[in-house]
Amino acid sequence: MSIPTQWTPTHGEPFRPVPYRPPRMPLQESLARAAELRERMDGRRTVRQFSADPVPEQVVRDAVACAATAPSGAHQQPWTFVLVKDPEVRRRIRAAAEEEEQLSYAGRLGEEWLAALRPLGTDEVKPHLTDAPALIVVFQQRYWLGEGGEKRKHYYVDESVGIAVGMLLSALHLSGLAALVHTPSPMRFLSEVLGRPVNEKAFAVIPVGYPADDCQVPDLVRKSLDQVLVEV
Ligand SMILES: Cc1cc2nc3c(=O)[nH]c(=O)nc-3n(C[C@H](O)[C@H](O)[C@H](O)COP(=O)(O)O)c2cc1C
Repeated sequence: MSIPTQWTPTHGEPFRPVPYRPPRMPLQESLARAAELRERMDGRRTVRQFSADPVPEQVVRDAVACAATAPSGAHQQPWTFVLVKDPEVRRRIRAAAEEEEQLSYAGRLGEEWLAALRPLGTDEVKPHLTDAPALIVVFQQRYWLGEGGEKRKHYYVDESVGIAVGMLLSALHLSGLAALVHTPSPMRFLSEVLGRPVNEKAFAVIPVGYPADDCQVPDLVRKSLDQVLVEV
């Protein structure tokens, strides 16, 4: 297992502005890119049946690097991405997740939640955790923890990590890979299996791979633009 290098926060440092002059995109190019991106993003679907085919690891690493460019509260970048390739670790994650999911689907979620999930066809069996060749387990750093054990508050952690995960999913999709945001509840077992420090809390497990040849997805309808956009 690789160990990330220690990050030194900029906490308390003075404001040091630098010029930012990105070239302005010509109008026609901007319109064309936006329309193409809209169409490509509309083709993204959550996949729950994965092929065991390996994925190009550099594509996954690049997608994580894209996610790590996300904006974050006070630029605290409160995220850790654990890339799990080891089949034995994936097997342990699946066993622990299915144990929790059995309780959830047996009634812990409550009827209202189970009814919301019914159209998705999900249940307590989670083959994607072992079929997909890679899992990205995303952790939120609830606070910063220095090497000497000193702590510092992090701000807007949920929002920051949510934005980073959105960027991760977009990068994976636009690079040709499929993914699933899996949120077994509770997720404490992920910290134990992956040996994460006490300041980190699991946010989601994201299996990454190619859809299985017989992959199916629920026939969902997305809200249209006029149902989500209010212009004033
Ligand atoms: C925060 C979050 C948690 C999710 N948790 C699960 C999950 O635990 N299991 C699952 O099968 N799908 C999960 N999903 C996937 C959603 O069910 C899926 O995004 C939704 O049905 C829309 O389908 P689409 O992604 O194909 O557009 C989750 C998605 C999000 C954003």
